[in-house]
Amino acid sequence: MVLVKTRNLLKCYPMGLRTLTALRKINLEFQRGEFCGLIGPSGSGKTTLLNIIGSLDVPSQGSVTVLDKKIEELSHVEAARLRRNHIGFIFQTYNLLPLYTAYENVEFPLLLIDMPEAKRKKKVMDALDWLGIADKAESRPAQLSGGESQRVAVARAIVKLPDLVLADEPTANLDAENSFNILEMMVKLNQELNTTFIFATHDEKVIRYLRRKIHLVDGQVVKDEIVN
Ligand SMILES: Nc1ncnc2c1ncn2[C@@H]1O[C@H](COP(=O)(O)OP(=O)(O)OP(=O)(O)O)[C@@H](O)[C@H]1O
Ligand SMILES: [Mg+2]
Repeated sequence: MVLVKTRNLLKCYPMGLRTLTALRKINLEFQRGEFCGLIGPSGSGKTTLLNIIGSLDVPSQGSVTVLDKKIEELSHVEAARLRRNHIGFIFQTYNLLPLYTAYENVEFPLLLIDMPEAKRKKKVMDALDWLGIADKAESRPAQLSGGESQRVAVARAIVKLPDLVLADEPTANLDAENSFNILEMMVKLNQELNTTFIFATHDEKVIRYLRRKIHLVDGQVVKDEIVN
Protein backbone atom coordinates (compact mmCIF):
# COMPACT_ATOMS: atom_id res chain seq x y z
CA MET A 1 0.00 0.00 0.00
CA VAL A 2 1.30 3.43 -0.95
CA LEU A 3 1.62 5.61 2.15
CA VAL A 4 3.26 8.71 0.67
CA LYS A 5 3.43 9.89 -2.91
CA THR A 6 5.00 13.04 -4.32
CA ARG A 7 4.30 14.39 -7.81
CA ASN A 8 6.70 16.80 -9.49
CA LEU A 9 7.65 18.62 -6.31
CA LEU A 10 9.44 21.89 -6.74
CA LYS A 11 10.63 24.13 -3.92
CA CYS A 12 12.15 27.52 -4.64
CA TYR A 13 13.31 30.31 -2.39
CA PRO A 14 13.62 33.83 -3.76
CA MET A 15 17.11 35.13 -2.93
CA GLY A 16 17.21 38.76 -3.97
CA LEU A 17 17.31 38.76 -7.75
CA ARG A 18 18.04 35.05 -7.97
CA THR A 19 16.05 32.01 -7.00
CA LEU A 20 17.42 29.12 -5.01
CA THR A 21 15.88 25.82 -6.10
CA ALA A 22 15.95 23.52 -3.07
CA LEU A 23 13.96 20.69 -4.69
CA ARG A 24 13.18 19.93 -8.31
CA LYS A 25 11.01 17.26 -9.91
CA ILE A 26 10.71 14.99 -6.94
CA ASN A 27 8.57 11.98 -7.87
CA LEU A 28 8.69 9.38 -5.13
CA GLU A 29 6.45 6.71 -3.67
CA PHE A 30 6.82 5.25 -0.22
CA GLN A 31 5.06 2.00 0.66
CA ARG A 32 3.73 1.28 4.12
CA GLY A 33 6.39 -0.44 6.19
CA GLU A 34 9.42 0.97 4.41
CA PHE A 35 12.61 1.71 6.33
CA CYS A 36 14.29 4.18 4.06
CA GLY A 37 16.32 7.32 3.94
CA LEU A 38 17.05 10.47 2.01
CA ILE A 39 20.80 10.75 1.83
CA GLY A 40 23.02 13.38 0.29
CA PRO A 41 25.38 16.23 1.09
CA SER A 42 24.52 19.21 3.25
CA GLY A 43 22.14 21.52 1.40
CA SER A 44 20.88 18.82 -0.98
CA GLY A 45 17.26 19.27 0.17
CA LYS A 46 16.75 16.41 2.65
CA THR A 47 15.15 18.47 5.42
CA THR A 48 13.08 20.45 2.94
CA LEU A 49 11.63 17.27 1.44
CA LEU A 50 10.96 15.70 4.82
CA ASN A 51 9.14 18.84 6.00
CA ILE A 52 7.01 18.93 2.86
CA ILE A 53 6.08 15.25 3.24
CA GLY A 54 5.11 15.99 6.85
CA SER A 55 3.01 19.02 5.78
CA LEU A 56 5.17 21.35 7.86
CA ASP A 57 6.18 23.17 4.69
CA VAL A 58 4.50 23.65 1.32
CA PRO A 59 6.01 23.05 -2.11
CA SER A 60 6.20 25.84 -4.70
CA GLN A 61 4.69 23.40 -7.21
CA GLY A 62 3.62 19.78 -7.29
CA SER A 63 1.64 17.66 -4.88
CA VAL A 64 2.01 15.32 -1.93
CA THR A 65 -0.39 12.57 -0.96
CA VAL A 66 -0.21 11.02 2.50
CA LEU A 67 -2.60 8.20 3.43
CA ASP A 68 -4.71 8.97 0.37
CA LYS A 69 -5.08 12.63 1.34
CA LYS A 70 -3.79 15.36 -0.93
CA ILE A 71 -1.96 17.69 1.44
CA GLU A 72 -2.54 20.78 -0.68
CA GLU A 73 -6.29 20.25 -0.48
CA LEU A 74 -6.35 20.07 3.33
CA SER A 75 -7.18 23.00 5.57
CA HIS A 76 -4.71 23.87 8.34
CA VAL A 77 -6.91 22.05 10.81
CA GLU A 78 -7.12 18.92 8.64
CA ALA A 79 -3.36 18.92 8.06
CA ALA A 80 -2.79 19.27 11.80
CA ARG A 81 -5.13 16.35 12.43
CA LEU A 82 -3.24 14.20 9.92
CA ARG A 83 0.08 15.00 11.64
CA ARG A 84 -1.32 14.51 15.11
CA ASN A 85 -2.89 11.12 14.38
CA HIS A 86 -0.45 9.57 11.97
CA ILE A 87 2.98 11.21 11.88
CA GLY A 88 5.84 11.36 14.38
CA PHE A 89 8.62 13.89 13.83
CA ILE A 90 12.21 13.82 14.99
CA PHE A 91 13.92 17.09 14.17
CA GLN A 92 17.57 17.85 13.46
CA THR A 93 17.47 20.23 16.43
CA TYR A 94 15.27 18.26 18.88
CA ASN A 95 12.63 21.05 19.27
CA LEU A 96 11.89 20.05 22.86
CA LEU A 97 9.69 22.34 24.92
CA PRO A 98 12.20 23.97 27.28
CA LEU A 99 9.90 24.48 30.27
CA TYR A 100 8.57 20.92 30.19
CA THR A 101 10.24 17.91 31.76
CA ALA A 102 11.31 14.94 29.64
CA TYR A 103 8.14 13.15 30.78
CA GLU A 104 5.93 16.10 29.79
CA ASN A 105 7.64 16.46 26.42
CA VAL A 106 6.94 12.82 25.60
CA GLU A 107 3.41 13.07 26.96
CA PHE A 108 2.59 16.08 24.80
CA PRO A 109 1.47 14.30 21.59
CA LEU A 110 -0.78 12.03 23.66
CA LEU A 111 -2.56 15.03 25.18
CA LEU A 112 -3.63 15.99 21.66
CA ILE A 113 -5.40 12.69 21.08
CA ASP A 114 -8.04 11.18 23.27
CA MET A 115 -6.42 8.76 25.73
CA PRO A 116 -7.24 7.86 29.34
CA GLU A 117 -4.67 9.11 31.84
CA ALA A 118 -3.52 5.71 33.12
CA LYS A 119 -2.87 4.44 29.60
CA ARG A 120 -1.10 7.68 28.71
CA LYS A 121 1.18 7.43 31.72
CA LYS A 122 2.14 3.86 30.88
CA LYS A 123 2.87 4.73 27.26
CA VAL A 124 5.10 7.64 28.23
CA MET A 125 7.06 5.57 30.74
CA ASP A 126 7.36 2.68 28.25
CA ALA A 127 8.76 5.03 25.60
CA LEU A 128 11.23 6.59 28.06
CA ASP A 129 12.19 3.09 29.16
CA TRP A 130 12.79 1.87 25.61
CA LEU A 131 15.18 4.73 25.12
CA GLY A 132 16.95 4.21 28.41
CA ILE A 133 16.06 7.58 29.91
CA ALA A 134 13.32 6.69 32.41
CA ASP A 135 15.58 8.07 35.16
CA LYS A 136 15.52 11.47 33.41
CA ALA A 137 11.72 11.73 33.36
CA GLU A 138 11.72 14.75 35.67
CA SER A 139 14.63 16.59 33.99
CA ARG A 140 14.12 19.59 31.75
CA PRO A 141 15.94 19.87 28.39
CA ALA A 142 18.55 22.27 29.82
CA GLN A 143 19.52 19.57 32.31
CA LEU A 144 19.96 16.93 29.59
CA SER A 145 22.95 16.16 27.39
CA GLY A 146 22.56 16.42 23.60
CA GLY A 147 22.22 12.66 23.34
CA GLU A 148 19.63 12.50 26.10
CA SER A 149 17.65 15.33 24.49
CA GLN A 150 17.64 13.46 21.23
CA ARG A 151 16.40 10.32 22.97
CA VAL A 152 13.55 12.33 24.51
CA ALA A 153 12.75 13.64 21.03
CA VAL A 154 12.70 10.09 19.65
CA ALA A 155 10.46 8.94 22.51
CA ARG A 156 8.07 11.81 21.76
CA ALA A 157 7.95 10.86 18.07
CA ILE A 158 7.13 7.21 18.65
CA VAL A 159 5.00 7.32 21.81
CA LYS A 160 1.69 7.34 19.95
CA LEU A 161 2.89 4.55 17.60
CA PRO A 162 2.34 6.59 14.43
CA ASP A 163 2.03 5.15 10.92
CA LEU A 164 4.89 7.29 9.68
CA VAL A 165 8.02 8.56 11.42
CA LEU A 166 9.99 11.34 9.74
CA ALA A 167 13.43 11.43 11.29
CA ASP A 168 15.81 14.25 10.43
CA GLU A 169 19.38 13.31 11.45
CA PRO A 170 18.10 11.48 14.55
CA THR A 171 21.57 10.30 15.55
CA ALA A 172 23.43 13.58 14.99
CA ASN A 173 24.24 13.99 18.68
CA LEU A 174 24.48 10.39 19.76
CA ASP A 175 27.50 8.21 20.39
CA ALA A 176 27.82 4.86 18.63
CA GLU A 177 26.16 2.89 21.40
CA ASN A 178 23.14 5.19 21.70
CA SER A 179 22.76 5.35 17.93
CA PHE A 180 22.79 1.57 17.80
CA ASN A 181 20.16 1.29 20.55
CA ILE A 182 17.85 3.82 18.92
CA LEU A 183 18.17 2.24 15.50
CA GLU A 184 17.54 -1.24 16.87
CA MET A 185 14.41 0.05 18.57
CA MET A 186 13.24 1.68 15.35
CA VAL A 187 13.85 -1.53 13.40
CA LYS A 188 11.79 -3.37 16.01
CA LEU A 189 8.90 -0.91 15.63
CA ASN A 190 9.20 -1.24 11.87
CA GLN A 191 9.14 -5.03 11.97
CA GLU A 192 6.53 -5.53 14.68
CA LEU A 193 4.10 -2.72 13.93
CA ASN A 194 4.98 -2.03 10.29
CA THR A 195 5.74 1.60 11.19
CA THR A 196 7.13 3.41 8.16
CA PHE A 197 10.38 5.32 8.67
CA ILE A 198 11.80 7.99 6.39
CA PHE A 199 15.15 9.34 7.53
CA ALA A 200 17.19 12.28 6.35
CA THR A 201 20.78 11.53 7.16
CA HIS A 202 24.40 11.42 6.22
CA ASP A 203 25.35 9.24 9.17
CA GLU A 204 26.90 5.95 8.03
CA LYS A 205 25.59 4.28 11.19
CA VAL A 206 22.03 5.03 10.03
CA ILE A 207 22.67 4.41 6.34
CA ARG A 208 23.78 0.83 7.11
CA TYR A 209 20.30 0.09 8.47
CA LEU A 210 18.34 1.47 5.52
CA ARG A 211 16.58 -0.91 3.19
CA ARG A 212 16.12 1.79 0.58
CA LYS A 213 18.46 4.70 -0.10
CA ILE A 214 17.28 7.74 -2.00
CA HIS A 215 20.24 9.87 -2.98
CA LEU A 216 19.69 13.59 -3.37
CA VAL A 217 22.09 15.99 -5.02
CA ASP A 218 21.18 19.65 -5.52
CA GLY A 219 17.52 18.99 -4.84
CA GLN A 220 17.20 16.12 -7.29
CA VAL A 221 16.94 12.37 -6.86
CA VAL A 222 20.01 10.95 -8.58
CA LYS A 223 19.67 7.37 -7.37
CA ASP A 224 16.95 5.31 -5.67
CA GLU A 225 18.22 1.90 -4.58
CA ILE A 226 16.71 -1.02 -2.70
CA VAL A 227 19.18 -2.76 -0.42
CA ASN A 228 18.79 -6.43 0.44
N1 LIG B 1 13.99 29.19 4.50
C1 LIG B 1 14.93 29.11 3.55
N2 LIG B 1 15.23 30.18 2.78
C2 LIG B 1 16.16 30.10 1.80
N3 LIG B 1 16.84 28.98 1.50
C3 LIG B 1 16.58 27.89 2.24
C4 LIG B 1 15.63 27.89 3.30
N4 LIG B 1 15.59 26.64 3.83
C5 LIG B 1 16.49 25.91 3.14
N5 LIG B 1 17.08 26.66 2.19
C6 LIG B 1 18.10 26.19 1.22
O1 LIG B 1 17.59 25.03 0.59
C7 LIG B 1 18.64 24.09 0.35
C8 LIG B 1 18.25 22.75 0.97
O2 LIG B 1 18.26 22.88 2.41
P1 LIG B 1 17.96 21.65 3.36
O3 LIG B 1 17.89 22.17 4.74
O4 LIG B 1 16.78 20.91 2.84
O5 LIG B 1 19.28 20.76 3.15
P2 LIG B 1 19.73 19.41 3.87
O6 LIG B 1 19.99 18.41 2.80
O7 LIG B 1 18.76 19.05 4.94
O8 LIG B 1 21.14 19.81 4.51
P3 LIG B 1 21.83 19.36 5.91
O9 LIG B 1 22.44 18.02 5.64
O10 LIG B 1 22.86 20.40 6.13
O11 LIG B 1 20.79 19.34 6.96
C9 LIG B 1 19.89 24.71 0.93
O12 LIG B 1 20.63 25.29 -0.13
C10 LIG B 1 19.38 25.75 1.88
O13 LIG B 1 20.29 26.81 1.99
MG1 LIG C 1 18.86 18.95 7.00
